[in-house]
Amino acid sequence: MTSYTEGKQNPFLGLAFVAAFVGSTLGCPSRCECSAQTKAVVCHRKRMSTIPDGIPTETRILDLSKNKMTMINPDDFIAFPGLEELDLSGNVISYVEPGAFNTLFNMHSLSLKSNRIKLIPLGVFTALTNLTRLDISDNKIVILLDYMFQDLHNLKVLEVGDNDLVYITPSAFSGLLSLETLTLERCNLTFVPTEALSHLHNLISLHLRYLTISTLHPYSFKKLFRLRHLDIDNWPSLDRVPANTLHGLNLTTLFITNTNLSSFPYQALKHLPYLTHLNLSYNRIRHIEGGMLLELVRLRELHLVGAQLFTIEPYAFQGLRDLKVLNVSHNRLDTLEKGVFQSPEALEVLLIDHNPLVCDCRLMWILQKKHSIFFGDSQPECSTPEGIRGRPFKEFKETLLSYYVTCTKPKIRENKTQTYTADEGQPAMLRCSADGTPRPTVSWVSPRGRKLTGRSHGRMMLHNNGTLEIKSAEMQDSGVYVCLASNTAGNDTLMASLAVKSLGSLYANRTQYYTDPSNTTANGTASVSLGLDLKTILVSTAMGCFTFLGVVLFCFLLLFVWSRGKGKHKNNIDVEYVPRSKSNGTNVDSAEGQAGPRRFNMKMM
Ligand SMILES: *[C@@H]1O[C@H](CO)[C@@H](O)[C@H](O)[C@H]1NC(C)=O
Ligand SMILES: *[C@@H]1O[C@H](CO)[C@@H](O)[C@H](O)[C@H]1NC(C)=O
Ligand SMILES: *[C@@H]1O[C@H](CO)[C@@H](O)[C@H](O)[C@H]1NC(C)=O
Ligand SMILES: *[C@@H]1O[C@H](CO)[C@@H](O)[C@H](O)[C@H]1NC(C)=O
Ligand SMILES: *[C@@H]1O[C@H](CO)[C@@H](O)[C@H](O)[C@H]1NC(C)=O
Ligand SMILES: *[C@@H]1O[C@H](CO)[C@@H](O)[C@H](O)[C@H]1NC(C)=O
Ligand SMILES: *[C@@H]1O[C@H](CO)[C@@H](O)[C@H](O)[C@H]1NC(C)=O
Ligand SMILES: *[C@@H]1O[C@H](CO)[C@@H](O)[C@H](O)[C@H]1NC(C)=O
Ligand SMILES: *[C@@H]1O[C@H](CO)[C@@H](O)[C@H](O)[C@H]1NC(C)=O
Ligand SMILES: *[C@@H]1O[C@H](CO)[C@@H](O)[C@H](O)[C@H]1NC(C)=O
Ligand SMILES: *[C@@H]1O[C@H](CO)[C@@H](O)[C@H](O)[C@H]1NC(C)=O
Ligand SMILES: *[C@@H]1O[C@H](CO)[C@@H](O)[C@H](O)[C@H]1NC(C)=O
Repeated sequence: MTSYTEGKQNPFLGLAFVAAFVGSTLGCPSRCECSAQTKAVVCHRKRMSTIPDGIPTETRILDLSKNKMTMINPDDFIAFPGLEELDLSGNVISYVEPGAFNTLFNMHSLSLKSNRIKLIPLGVFTALTNLTRLDISDNKIVILLDYMFQDLHNLKVLEVGDNDLVYITPSAFSGLLSLETLTLERCNLTFVPTEALSHLHNLISLHLRYLTISTLHPYSFKKLFRLRHLDIDNWPSLDRVPANTLHGLNLTTLFITNTNLSSFPYQALKHLPYLTHLNLSYNRIRHIEGGMLLELVRLRELHLVGAQLFTIEPYAFQGLRDLKVLNVSHNRLDTLEKGVFQSPEALEVLLIDHNPLVCDCRLMWILQKKHSIFFGDSQPECSTPEGIRGRPFKEFKETLLSYYVTCTKPKIRENKTQTYTADEGQPAMLRCSADGTPRPTVSWVSPRGRKLTGRSHGRMMLHNNGTLEIKSAEMQDSGVYVCLASNTAGNDTLMASLAVKSLGSLYANRTQYYTDPSNTTANGTASVSLGLDLKTILVSTAMGCFTFLGVVLFCFLLLFVWSRGKGKHKNNIDVEYVPRSKSNGTNVDSAEGQAGPRRFNMKMM
């Protein structure tokens, strides 16, 4: 899909064409192959330990790769001023003398790859002002010295990978004004050489692969005005890309792949409005949240393969009106809703195979578009429902769709009103289990109107089966809880009233209502929030479920207003009432149903 292959062609390919052995009148070193036309001399894999005699002076291409040379001296190439390509790769060179290439003003391409060089002293590359391609990868270089490439004004491609590099001095890349592609891979760098890189004003592609860097700092890339492609690949210990890491860059392609990243780097991607290709494959990303990528207005391809993606929330791709390719195969997605996309009709390629897809109404839009979307070579399949498991998308017939690919509204199994009592200090479990396709999500609303959706809220815990557990019930946990089960097809609710009984209190069996137990900062004293409580009261009254409770509360409210009105600031309000007969079926506390008058006590702020 993408095409950023610049700088990938083999620079020494030219040598491959030098096939013919041409007995030049000017001679050819024994054991080598020469071509008079291209002025090339190929002495590849000839066990030579020194430069052979008899190389014609006008030679332009010299291949000495895979020999046994150990050192390069200043005079070695003095006789060949016309040299344009020199390949010294695969020797055992451990040292290159300064001035070794002093006379080679026409050189375009130099390879010192796969040798045993530990240090390149200053002065080795002086005079190579026309060099466009330099490969010093696969050596034992530990440090790049300041100004070592100073004269290479025309260098476009530099390969320095596969070295023991631990440090790149701040001015190492000074002078590389034409450099367009830099690959730094398999090195021992522990941080991004921000200062050194800041000299590369014309750099277009930067490949940082197989590095052990574990932290990226804000403003890691400075003055790289023309950088368009950044590739951060195989950094196994990278787990975070902080905001502003990429600040100042204007990228079109970004790879952050094969790292330990566990969350989508939304913040770091801000200010990249020209990004068209984003590849976050092989990380540990689990979610894509909604509405977080608004700035990526030009994004065309998003690849997030082989991660641990569970959910792509609705509106996740809001703002991405040009998204044409989405590659999320080999993840844990059970669905991909239409509402995820800003413009679903723009989508051309969708790779979603190898996900545990639940084929219900949420996937209908994809199945209906199966002729206009390309699913790749590996067809996606449904993992449920049973009847169509394992069936490739393209084999779906319309009749099958309307029969299987459906949703049903949630239905809560428990009765619509539940009453619970709990002793102070004991756990309380409020049940709410719902059926439906897709599986409904259950949330609770506490008596004070607080929505409980996540797993843990102070002493409260929302279990996967919908049960709300209050670990150690307190007086102020009492009240009416509302359970909401919802899915794309609709929702269902249940009301559960909880009465917590005090143990060993001065006031016998006192019960308190209308506080928010999930507020862990609140003290034992109940703080009454009138607005919310009124609402709760109205709701329960309207439901006709807690009529007597409503009456009690209404009385209590009247009392409260009355006491305020009289200017009498009572700290406690006691409400006495006689419960209705059991036949009503709405008594809040069946455990003591037969008791006489009961009391409510309310502490005021
Ligand atoms: C470098 O290349 C240019 C043309 O590309 C040529 O004119 C010049 O002589 C070469 N050598 C030097 C030292 O610039
Ligand atoms: C670089 O890392 C490799 C592999 O971890 C290690 O063998 C080598 O000794 C390191 N080199 C330096 C100079 O630290
Ligand atoms: C990746 O992150 C996990 C959890 O944060 C950690 O346990 C693991 O060691 C990390 N892996 C590497 C290679 O750092
Ligand atoms: C960013 O790059 C795009 C094209 O890649 C270019 O059109 C735009 O002018 C650049 N913006 C800046 C601020 O350099
Ligand atoms: C995304 O990155 C992975 C890992 O680096 C690579 O295998 C894959 O080809 C990339 N995808 C594209 C479309 O470039
Ligand atoms: C993603 O999809 C593209 C096809 O659009 C494919 O070429 C690529 O290899 C896939 N995998 C990754 C990891 O990007
Ligand atoms: C629901 O209420 C009915 C009577 O109103 C009762 O028979 C049934 O057991 C209750 N079911 C549950 C699950 O509480
Ligand atoms: C729900 O899950 C919790 C914790 O796993 C368990 O204690 C409880 O009994 C379950 N409730 C129901 C109704 O299955
Ligand atoms: C519940 O469903 C009704 C329609 O059935 C809808 O009007 C209402 O907004 C839904 N409520 C929630 C919280 O989803
Ligand atoms: C409190 O209620 C319990 C039953 O829940 C009852 O046994 C006890 O007598 C009550 N205490 C008082 C003082 O009324
Ligand atoms: C918790 O209670 C305190 C004191 O009553 C109140 O100021 C605070 O806003 C409450 N916090 C929440 C999240 O309800
Ligand atoms: C909470 O109670 C502690 C002692 O029990 C007390 O020091 C603190 O002032 C109380 N805080 C509030 C907000 O009432």
